[in-house]
Amino acid sequence: MFENKRVLVTGSSRGIGFAIVKAFLEAGARVAVNGRTAESTESAIAKLGGGDQLMPIPGDVSSVAGCEAIVATAIESLGGMDILVNNAGIDIGASLEEGDEAVWDAIMNINLKGTYFCSRAAVKALRESCGNIVNVGSDSSFMGTADMSIYCASKGGVLMLARAWSRELAPDIRVNCVCPGFVDTDMVRRDYIDQADDPEELLSQVEDYAALKRLGRPEEIAAAVLYLASEQAGFVTGSALSIDGGLTAGY
Ligand SMILES: NC(=O)c1ccc[n+]([C@@H]2O[C@H](COP(=O)([O-])OP(=O)(O)OC[C@H]3O[C@@H](n4cnc5c(N)ncnc54)[C@H](O)[C@@H]3O)[C@@H](O)[C@H]2O)c1
Repeated sequence: MFENKRVLVTGSSRGIGFAIVKAFLEAGARVAVNGRTAESTESAIAKLGGGDQLMPIPGDVSSVAGCEAIVATAIESLGGMDILVNNAGIDIGASLEEGDEAVWDAIMNINLKGTYFCSRAAVKALRESCGNIVNVGSDSSFMGTADMSIYCASKGGVLMLARAWSRELAPDIRVNCVCPGFVDTDMVRRDYIDQADDPEELLSQVEDYAALKRLGRPEEIAAAVLYLASEQAGFVTGSALSIDGGLTAGY
């Protein structure tokens, strides 16, 4: 379905981003893989079996220069760009009293500034290809969570960038946002659940938040990204697609 489409997925050395790369690769795309370091990027490509459909594009999205370098190198290696997936993101819990400038900058620079400046760097190439952008938001694009206000503000912003760009860039470029709930990746498992005094109890609490009573799988988010990026979604722009097991539907 994506035969020879040219795709950049930021933050794709592991987790959801890695699953998105794998799904695009299996659908015939050529994919630029981005992790923060050359090692993480090369190791992700090796796990996928290598080959000339995959380009390593290491780099840090937290600065404008980093975003511009990643996108320029991806466009050069791929010979243009059809799809940009703004997936790179981090999550640091902090109460209002704890959230100092360093935490604010760390989260905002990657999640929000990275999304903005990667897209800005890609917009000319995407106009040329009549391509599209998929931002990776979160259930936190809609819901406030205690001790997570900076992350929530960043993900609300990621959704709002998609909505504003869908108006600004139409009809040339479609822009959408996929909003995962709790997904079984390092971000949730290693950095959150495993840090608890009682990880089993926290896991069952987190599973319980979803109507479907389980964590999501990275491939389930990837399938939604591929739908939004595909021609089947040709009339879809400015949309927020929740893939969260019913987490944000109510309680
Ligand atoms: N896992 C979840 O439950 C969940 C829920 C909602 C939204 N999300 C969002 O999905 C996206 C992926 O999350 P994940 O769970 O796969 O996380 P993860 O921590 O497993 O992976 C994050 C990826 O982003 C990359 N990354 C981090 N900082 C970067 C930077 N400065 N520059 C370039 N790459 C960078 C990492 O190298 C890694 O490849 C994030 O935007 C996250 O906010 C995740």
